[in-house]
Amino acid sequence: MKSDSAGNTGLNPSRLPAHVAVIMDGNGRWAQKRMLNRIKGHEKGADTVRAVVRASREIGIDFLTLYAFSTENWQRPKMEVSALMTLLKRFLESEQQEMAENNIRLRVIGQADRLPKDVQDALARVMEATGRNDGMCLSLALSYGARAEIVEAAQSLARQVKNGDIQPDEISDELFSGHLYTAGMPDPELLIRTSGEFRISNFLLWKIAYAELFVTPTLWPDFTREEFIGILKDFQNRERRFGRVSAS
Ligand code: IPE
Ligand code: IPE
Ligand code: MG
Repeated sequence: MKSDSAGNTGLNPSRLPAHVAVIMDGNGRWAQKRMLNRIKGHEKGADTVRAVVRASREIGIDFLTLYAFSTENWQRPKMEVSALMTLLKRFLESEQQEMAENNIRLRVIGQADRLPKDVQDALARVMEATGRNDGMCLSLALSYGARAEIVEAAQSLARQVKNGDIQPDEISDELFSGHLYTAGMPDPELLIRTSGEFRISNFLLWKIAYAELFVTPTLWPDFTREEFIGILKDFQNRERRFGRVSAS
């Protein structure tokens, strides 16, 4: 059963984005501003993840995709990478029950095989426990890079052509989409980035072709449910023309 509780938020439930994607940025700066270690920022950021997942579920968002760790993030200091992996595992263990109870299905996009074995095991457990849920699909982008994703899709299609399974002309937008990690998901209609950076950082390049962008200066650990709802309201007031002329 899907909930439809956008009611008490002032949001129009019939104009909610089906898919919201978020580049969760600014944990390090949040900590540095307080003379704390960057890891403290990631810890606080994990609390924001919990709040935004909960809010999305309550509001009735069908797909929420969170950029948690990029292929480029492997180049950070070893200590920071390992702290992020520990936090991720802790997050999965602490949220498993709530996700299962709240009808949330977990999915991973990215090169999950590059993650430490214990994190892969924790992911497998939560995906198993939530696999039949249909309330909201929460996708965590982990060791994710959009160029790698597109290259892998091209390789997979090239193999099919080589085997004679498909003809080159059969490769369409739809077929290509189906070979991405995000296969089966609608395109994100709204992409939010926190911490004020106006860039995409190799996130969902194919899928965001027509996404509405929203950049907020708020650092991710300071991001709240209220601000999230405000952004959704802003989205509902935008006119999405898709290259056409205005409807009125
Ligand atoms: C986002 O916060 C979290 C990850 C990329 C894992 P950052 O760690 O990038 O924070 P800033 O950008 O340095 O402030
Ligand atoms: C983007 O943030 C990746 C994630 C939020 C996981 P970064 O902090 O890694 O991006 P850049 O380096 O500012 O582009
Ligand atoms: Mg950053």
